[in-house]
Amino acid sequence: MGSTSFIPVARPLLGEEEFEAVRRVLESGILAHGPEVEAFEREFAEFVGVDYAVAVANGTAALDLILKAYRIREGDEVITTPFSFIATANAILYQGARPVFADIDPETYNLDPDKVLELITPRTRAIIVVHLYGHPADMKAFRKIAEDHKLILIEDAAQAHGAEYRGRIVGSLGDAAAFSFYATKNMTTGEGGMVTTNDRRVAERIRMLRDHGQAEKYLHVELGYNLRMTNIAAAIGRVQLRRLPQLNSRRRENAEVMTRILSRVKGIVPPIEKPWARHVYHQYVIRVTSSYPYTRDELAKLLRERGIGTAVHYPRIIPDQPLYQSLGIGCPRGCPEARRAAREVLSLPVHPHVSREQAEMIARTIAELGRS
Ligand SMILES: Cc1ncc(COP(=O)(O)O)c(C=O)c1O
Repeated sequence: MGSTSFIPVARPLLGEEEFEAVRRVLESGILAHGPEVEAFEREFAEFVGVDYAVAVANGTAALDLILKAYRIREGDEVITTPFSFIATANAILYQGARPVFADIDPETYNLDPDKVLELITPRTRAIIVVHLYGHPADMKAFRKIAEDHKLILIEDAAQAHGAEYRGRIVGSLGDAAAFSFYATKNMTTGEGGMVTTNDRRVAERIRMLRDHGQAEKYLHVELGYNLRMTNIAAAIGRVQLRRLPQLNSRRRENAEVMTRILSRVKGIVPPIEKPWARHVYHQYVIRVTSSYPYTRDELAKLLRERGIGTAVHYPRIIPDQPLYQSLGIGCPRGCPEARRAAREVLSLPVHPHVSREQAEMIARTIAELGRS
C-alpha cells in the first residue's frame, strides 16, 4: 500500500499459502467438518498450551457453548465488563442468566478485580474477563477471586491471540477460553471461533453441543446446535496460526513507533503494557483527553480527511445499549471509568499492512494537530 492511499483501521493479511490451503480443501471435496478442523484444533491447543481446543462457527458461539457446558442458567449471575463488544454479555443473556457489570481499570481498560469483588453475591456463578484490545487481564487476581468464591473463570480471548500473561499464553489461564477468528482479528478464518480448556468434560460437551447434541452418528442425547467450523475455514486458520508470531510482531513494532511519538503529546494517553504483559495490539487505542485541542470525534474526522482511518471501540458501554436498558440491566456502581473510556478512546491503524513509515506518519499527524 502506498503512503498516499487511505489507511484503513483494519485489514486482514492473507497470502499465497491461504489460497493454496483453500484450494486443497476444495479439491478434497470435504468442505464441512473434516481433517483440517481436527488438525487446527490440535495445533491451536498446542499453541495455547492446553489439553483441548474445540473449533466452532464464531467467537460468540464459543462463549455461548462454554456457558452452556458449565450449565449457567436462569437465576445465575455472571460478572463481566461493561466495556467490550456486545457478544461478551449477550452470551450470558442467552442462558437466561443475568450479566452483572463491574467497572474497568482505566490504565488497561480491562475488568478491575477489586470492582468484581464488590459485586459477588450468593447467586454469582462465573466471571468472564476480556483481554481487551490484546492486553491481558490481571489473571492472578481473578484466579484468586474465583478460587476463594468457587466461581468459574472464563477468558474472552477474542482479541488476544498470542498475548501473554506472566509468560503464559492467554486462553490457558482460566477454566475455559473463547477465541474469535473474525476477519479483523489478529488471525482470521473469515468467521470462526475456538474454545480452549483443560477440562475434558467441558471439551466433550462442547463437541456435542456444536453438533446437534450427537453422542454418536444420529444418536442425539441433548438439544444441541449446528455451530461447527468448516474445513475451509480451518485450513485458513492453520496457515494464519503459523503466521501469528510474525503478524503480532508487526503490530508490536508499529505500536512501539507510535507510542514513542505519542507519549510526548499533551492530552493524548497512549496504550500501556504492564510489566507482566505481552500486548498483541489487536487495537492500538489512545485516549484523547480534554487537554488535547480537539475532541476525540473531531480528531477522528481530521485524521480521516488526512487519509487515516480510525474507529471507536466502543462508543457506548454495554449496559447503556437499548437492549440492556429495556431489560433493566444497568451498572450497579455506575461504571464511571468505563463511561469515561467510551467518551475518550480512539483506535488507530496498527495492523500488519501498516508500514513503519505509515505508523510514524499517523503519530506525527496527531502530534502536529496537537500543536495547532
Ligand atoms: C471481545 C469479543 N468477544 C466476543 C466476540 C465475538 O466473536 P465473533 O464476532 O467471532 O462472534 C468479539 C468479536 O467480534 C470480541 O471482540
